[in-house]
Amino acid sequence: MEKLIIKGGNPLKGEVSITGAKNSAIAILPATLLCSGTCTLHNVPNIIDVKLSCEILEQLGSKITWINKNSLLIDNRNITKTKAPLDLTSKFRASYYLIGAMLSRCKEIEVGLPGGCNLGARPIDQHIKGFEALGAVANLSQGKIYVKAEKLVGSNIYMDTVSVGATINVLLSSIFAEGTTTIDNAAKEPHIVDVANFLNSLGADIRGAGTDLIKVNGVKSLKDNVTYSIVPDQIETGTFMLAAIASKGDLTIRNCIPEHLDSLTSKILEVGGNVESYGDTLHVWSTNRPQKTVIKTLPYPGFPTDLQPQMGVVLSVADGTSIINESIWESRFQYTAELNKMGARITAQGKSAIFEGVEYLSGAPVYATDLRAGAALVIAGLIAKRHY
Ligand code: UD1
Repeated sequence: MEKLIIKGGNPLKGEVSITGAKNSAIAILPATLLCSGTCTLHNVPNIIDVKLSCEILEQLGSKITWINKNSLLIDNRNITKTKAPLDLTSKFRASYYLIGAMLSRCKEIEVGLPGGCNLGARPIDQHIKGFEALGAVANLSQGKIYVKAEKLVGSNIYMDTVSVGATINVLLSSIFAEGTTTIDNAAKEPHIVDVANFLNSLGADIRGAGTDLIKVNGVKSLKDNVTYSIVPDQIETGTFMLAAIASKGDLTIRNCIPEHLDSLTSKILEVGGNVESYGDTLHVWSTNRPQKTVIKTLPYPGFPTDLQPQMGVVLSVADGTSIINESIWESRFQYTAELNKMGARITAQGKSAIFEGVEYLSGAPVYATDLRAGAALVIAGLIAKRHY
């Protein structure tokens, strides 16, 4: 098992540059399947999920070259298979985007049921509802999904729940659908806008991405060449902001989009931290013990669930008792048991947790139960031994 050893106690100070968004990259990589030529992608995060996405695309017939550490050249002229490798697709969540992309490209796809972090039940009923509304038929059996369409025809789709994945997936499947598709109650996260911008730069006709009503006018074909740069990672930015606040540090965060972090910024100001923005740079610092607060996670532009564990570390050492309500995922408080091993006083029950702020955390062996929980525990490690 991989292990990080962190010697805590110092404020985090200095400068950092943010990489491309993970959740955009792992949607845009399958989205390149809609292009029957070549796509050059810049600002691609060099991370395991991206490498897995590349491996899956290669097994379908893509030729992929890393031009440099963060740029990819993807040649999709020769897609030959419609069965994605089950061992790879079940390793991560975003493999479900292959369904929308391959429905558009080949009208057919078989993938393993998506894996991903254990945050509680992660159904894909809204994805399937969208595909079926456009005329596809989906069959789930033996851990696989097979989706096929004779023809895709635009439709009005109302999402019963605000879902990032379903919004992007249905968008992917609707680009060549005959007529107009509307996605109502769509998610509005920055990476949805990023995927739509990528597809529009290829010649798709998507309007309203970033609002809760997206309209897609079907087109017959897309360009066969595009160069696109992935948006900076909102969650990585927020994680560094919270590391600065938790450690009473001082960080200059470059290559980010401060507006994507508005909900976090207002919470940081509320707990007594400082945030200033200049263009694509954020300056975040704190000299005081954080104050208590109440937080509820919500779809964008609300407070992101993917920053909830990192915020939980700040509140674990706040002056007073704080509450977090998690409204997106059922099991997103697993990290609190690990923080308690470090001396935190957190009581989690169901979708709420009460944080009685303590004066300091101490080092302990802890286990990262999921990706963002891991980020939170790194911040906790940084502040261990620091008295508030
Ligand atoms: C994406 C992000 C994840 C983030 C989440 C919420 C990726 C790869 N992952 O996950 O980091 O935590 O958004 O911001 O981009 N739901 C249904 N039926 C569906 C789909 C979703 O009921 O068909 C529910 C889920 O159980 C959850 C809520 O809708 O309660 C939001 O899920 P969704 O936005 O789809 O999350 P993901 O796209 O999987």
